Amino acid sequence: MSCILISGGFGYIGSHTATLLSEKNQKYVIVDNFSNCKREIVDKIRTITKNKVCFYDCDIRDNKNLIKIINENKVTSVIHFAALKSVSESIVNPLEYYEVNVNGTISLLKAMQLTGVKKFLFSSSAAVYGEPDFCPIDESHILKPLNPYAQTKIIIENILKDIYKAEKNWSVACLRYFNPIGAHKSGLIGDDPLSGKNANLMPEIIKVVRGIKDYLEVFGDDYPTPDGTGIRDYIHIMDLAEAHYKALNFIDKKNGINFFNIGTGKGVSVLELKKAFENVSGLNVPIKISKRREGDCAACFANPKKANDILKWSAKYDLNQMCESSWKFVNRNSK
Ligand code: NAD
Ligand code: WQD
Repeated sequence: MSCILISGGFGYIGSHTATLLSEKNQKYVIVDNFSNCKREIVDKIRTITKNKVCFYDCDIRDNKNLIKIINENKVTSVIHFAALKSVSESIVNPLEYYEVNVNGTISLLKAMQLTGVKKFLFSSSAAVYGEPDFCPIDESHILKPLNPYAQTKIIIENILKDIYKAEKNWSVACLRYFNPIGAHKSGLIGDDPLSGKNANLMPEIIKVVRGIKDYLEVFGDDYPTPDGTGIRDYIHIMDLAEAHYKALNFIDKKNGINFFNIGTGKGVSVLELKKAFENVSGLNVPIKISKRREGDCAACFANPKKANDILKWSAKYDLNQMCESSWKFVNRNSK
């Protein structure tokens, strides 16, 4: 039976993907150093999947340990989520980002090479496109990294291209995620980072409804968009998890390297997301308009046609379902 190594499998996207793989009876082993997740995540995944969770508290830069884990578990493919992901922090501390994201990935890829594992699914990001020249963005859009975080994703994509050039029996897919939000239907797991460095929109809305913040700071209402606020492609976390399952099936069958946008293709503004959350929660989210956040663009949404056609994947959940699941997660986890 095949076994998937999930690096960073206790993080936001990894934990949801793990529950989905379990639902599909896919065996997996998680490698995570718990740098951005709570220990209680292990029990939560166990509760949802009703299965023992096989995991190692291990840093992806610990190449020797990775080799041991791959051999012990007869790993056949890897989904690589483990990374640092704060854009702002990457600008302040670029070396740490290159060290963990790039060196960490090289360590993992070397462990795979040594053990003969050649199927690799990589968590890339819409951040690789920078300020888009056009929307919806397709995969041929020029890559214009605006920060070290995005640079790390492009460097890794290039390393993967070179590996495939050198060894044609590798099978690689790079999934460029847009803006994942929402939570598992149980409400048990959701976006629950250890560090407060990621001031993404949905977590910020949640801080307001939980009374941690008095208002949502809206970064600019003077963009050339219908309501003046920034437009993004929000995607339900379980749709994103499903994209990994479909991509795993794809790389299982075909050698090569492919890049896929994983988004809904629909642009939603800051005010539209805020409104949708208010409708679902029945609560008012006060706002304060402030100046544009540095590095933000007016609009960024995907053309997901390649993933629709080749992976046979498309997003199923709408904005209300994204908000409902986030709201359920907040209610189940607020003390
Ligand atoms: P996350 O921080 O919730 O999860 C990452 C997990 O990796 C955490 O559990 C953390 O403990 C672990 N980890 C970090 N460094 C590690 C190391 N050196 N060794 C072992 N484990 C380590 O992040 P996420 O939102 O689940 O993102 C997963 C991946 O998707 C990342 O590569 C991220 O860059 C990418 N991505 C995320 C988003 C997003 O908006 N969440 C968007 C695009 C791409
Ligand atoms: C969305 C919109 C903000 C917070 C980031 C990373 C990207 C990817 C996903 C990892 C923008 C506005 C936000 C707030 C606001 N992550 N906003 N008030 O910037 O599209 O993407 O997360 O790969 O790389 O850059 O997401 O959620 O931060 O912002 O008005 O308090 O919400 O200006 O228009 P972003 P976001």
